[in-house]
Amino acid sequence: MATTTRSAAQGILADDNTEARERIIEMLKKAYWMEIETVMSYITNSINPDGVRAQEIVESLQQDIQEELGHAQQFAQRIKELYGVVPGSLDFKAEQSYLQPPESQTDIVHVIKGVIEAETGAIEHYNRIIEETDGVDWVTQDMVIEILHDEEGHKRLFEGFLRECEADGIT
Ligand SMILES: [Fe+2]
Repeated sequence: MATTTRSAAQGILADDNTEARERIIEMLKKAYWMEIETVMSYITNSINPDGVRAQEIVESLQQDIQEELGHAQQFAQRIKELYGVVPGSLDFKAEQSYLQPPESQTDIVHVIKGVIEAETGAIEHYNRIIEETDGVDWVTQDMVIEILHDEEGHKRLFEGFLRECEADGIT
């Protein structure tokens, strides 16, 4: 006996929305790689810095690693739900030139500015996903809005760290 399955007539899983779905999957793959690279950069920058001033930054980045890893997993899961395939590691291309280790490991301003740059890039890309999914894929949109909230929180926190450095005249 043949099983009767049918594709959804509405929503992002509908046949009519194949093109939109593929576009969204590509954006989710980019977001996935951004999160993975952020995890790598945050591990590096939560360990390298030296000095009293670096302590708070290091502790904050240590906590963020788990959160960014969670984001990567959420993006990967959504790629699968949309009938996509989560890419393998050979597809990875690094982009975060601004989060490479500074010459001096006490240069915490370099790290703070790098984190702000990374969060700004994520915020821009996630805003694009939210616009692209509007009216087409509510679930992805809802998920990305929540992740965007986290990134805006991180950015604001690190802008505060930068302000403090500026006030102390070390930028
Ligand atoms: Fe993230």
